[in-house]
Order: sequence, then C-alpha cells, then structure tokens
Amino acid sequence: MAECAVLASGSGSNFEAIVRGLEGTGHRVSCLVSDNDQAYAVVRAQSLGVPWHVVKYASAGGRDEARRNAEERVLAVLSQYDIRLVVLAGFMRLLTPLFVDAYPRRILNIHPALLPRYPGIHGIEESYRSADTELGITIHLVDHGMDTGPVLLQQSFERKGTETLKEIEDRIHALEHQYYPSVIIDQLDSCGEAK
Ligand code: GRF
Repeated sequence: MAECAVLASGSGSNFEAIVRGLEGTGHRVSCLVSDNDQAYAVVRAQSLGVPWHVVKYASAGGRDEARRNAEERVLAVLSQYDIRLVVLAGFMRLLTPLFVDAYPRRILNIHPALLPRYPGIHGIEESYRSADTELGITIHLVDHGMDTGPVLLQQSFERKGTETLKEIEDRIHALEHQYYPSVIIDQLDSCGEAK
C-alpha cells in the first residue's frame, strides 16, 4: 500500500477519477491540497470523504518568495501523511525547485496536449486551433521546467476536423480519466517495491 496526494486548483474531475481508480488497489489518495478555496475539487473531496487542505498563495510580495512560502506550507501539510507520490491534476501553480527537490522523480503531472507541443495553460485551445490531425494527452514526471519532465505515457486520437472545442475538450478529459489512474497505480506499485 502506498499513499499519494493530489494537488488541484479547479474542477477536480481528474482528482475524482484518481480516487475512484485507486479503490480496491490497496493504494489511496490520502489528501487533496488546493490553492483555491472555491475549487470544485474541494466539494468533490468532501463528498468522497478525502481529507482536504487549502493553502492560499499570497499575491502580494515578491512572486518567488510568495510561491516558496506557500510551498513550504504545502510541504508541511504533506508531511502529516506518508506521501510517496505527489500528483498534479490541474494545479495552476508553477513549482519551484524547493518543492520539486523535496519529491525527486515522485511528482506527476498530466497535460492536455501531446508535449512538447503546446506546453503551458492553454494546451487544449492551442491544440484545437492547430492544424494537427492527432491530439492527445501527456503524463510526465515533473522536473524544474514547465511541462518538460520525462514522459511516462502519451495517448492520442485522430480528430475528424468537425468537432467543436467542447467536443475536443470532452475527448481529452475522457482520455485523462481513463489513463491517469493506471499510471499512478504503476508508480505507487514501484514506490511500494522500493520501500
Ligand atoms: C486537465 O485538462 C489537465 O490536463 C490540466 O488541467 C485540467 C484539469 O481538469 N492540467 P480537472 O480539474 O481535473 O477537471
């Protein structure tokens, strides 16, 4: 059995898929951490019975200093659990080396495009507006860059060219919900072996 924490800022549909996907595996999501007290992810945590914590990022002060200060508070939350893996699922904050180095090769992210194409926060829109005929998702380890870490899995689909942005978003989210839990289970399995 190994535990993970999920960090999410918004809807939390991946968070919910992960919690449900881990049911019966012996692994579990020990907590949700959000930087946003209005995140629907928090509502999902409440109804799923997963402990949740909100850690707000100060907007005043130096951005790096504010970020590091918030990360120290997130790390303090995580230290209350036996977290083997940190899972980013729509967490809209860049992590500093302080955080990344606290969990080396043990932070996962999911990106709604086929990296290295369309990194950043507009991955779906940029994929949609491109002439690419193949769209998809990337699950990767987090390093010090933005959406640059080693890729663990990519999944793609052929677009017909007639879909709306909403239809493309739905296809991307369906792929995310299908594949993110199984990659997390694989990673938690190997954490267990390393223990
Ligand atoms: C997903 O599309 C994920 O790829 C991106 O942020 C979105 C989060 O969606 N990083 P949700 O909050 O899990 O519904």
